[in-house]
Amino acid sequence: MHRLKNDIGNIYFIRGVIYMKILLVGATGTIGQIVYEELKADAEIIQASRHAPDYPVDITSQDSIKQLFNQVGPLDGIICTVGAAHFGPLEEMTPEQNLIAVHSKQLGQINMVLLGQKYLRDHGSITLTTGILMDDPLKTAASAAMANGAVSAFVKSAAIEIPRGIRINHVSPSMLEKSKEKHGKLFQGYEPVSSTRIGLAYRKSVFGAQTGQAYKVY
Ligand SMILES: NC(=O)c1ccc[n+]([C@@H]2O[C@H](COP(=O)([O-])OP(=O)(O)OC[C@H]3O[C@@H](n4cnc5c(N)ncnc54)[C@H](OP(=O)(O)O)[C@@H]3O)[C@@H](O)[C@H]2O)c1
Repeated sequence: MHRLKNDIGNIYFIRGVIYMKILLVGATGTIGQIVYEELKADAEIIQASRHAPDYPVDITSQDSIKQLFNQVGPLDGIICTVGAAHFGPLEEMTPEQNLIAVHSKQLGQINMVLLGQKYLRDHGSITLTTGILMDDPLKTAASAAMANGAVSAFVKSAAIEIPRGIRINHVSPSMLEKSKEKHGKLFQGYEPVSSTRIGLAYRKSVFGAQTGQAYKVY
């Protein structure tokens, strides 16, 4: 396959030939599907999730993550749009319930970086997913906010030492228009954001030159 590079080293395509191989974990989810639609014309997208027929992965398991990276091989981009968290009143929240977000949204995504970085080609990119709750708190959402904040801090710090020109950012969405029916009761007074804005934030992270950024779609 013929590959071209631009001035920051990103690989670009020529006349429709696929030039980038991107792993999208969470591809069947609300955000994952938006990201897939946004990027599918410009890259080969490997669609992974727990129930994905070809590329199953559970990001709460290091063995499962390692198996996926061994299966997919060298990549130009890693995108993770996964992250479970327990929502419930703080006074009733148990340490075990809090661990759901720690194991999934927080360490799951961070382990995707730690275990996946060596599978990225030079100047590849990593894009994680956080959320508005780290900046704009809601009752019952402390555990999700904790994981978002941890991932955000990790990204900022990792960006200054991740090697070989690899870039790392996260997208922090507000409630999506597509999720209004599911989450609208919780997110009272939040203006839902369009799929277009969400898709573009991930595009900016993958095709842009910036690193260590939080793309806040609020
Ligand atoms: N939707 C919103 O309005 C919104 C706003 C702000 C932030 N966010 C954040 O964005 C992330 C994605 O949200 P979403 O609404 O797109 O969620 P979603 O519709 O529930 O989709 C989740 C996706 O992740 C996969 N998945 C779940 N657990 C997994 C695991 N342990 N390992 C691998 N894949 C797993 C699911 O597929 P399988 O079941 O096949 O694994 C699915 O593809 C969440 O962290 C959420 O907090 C969402």
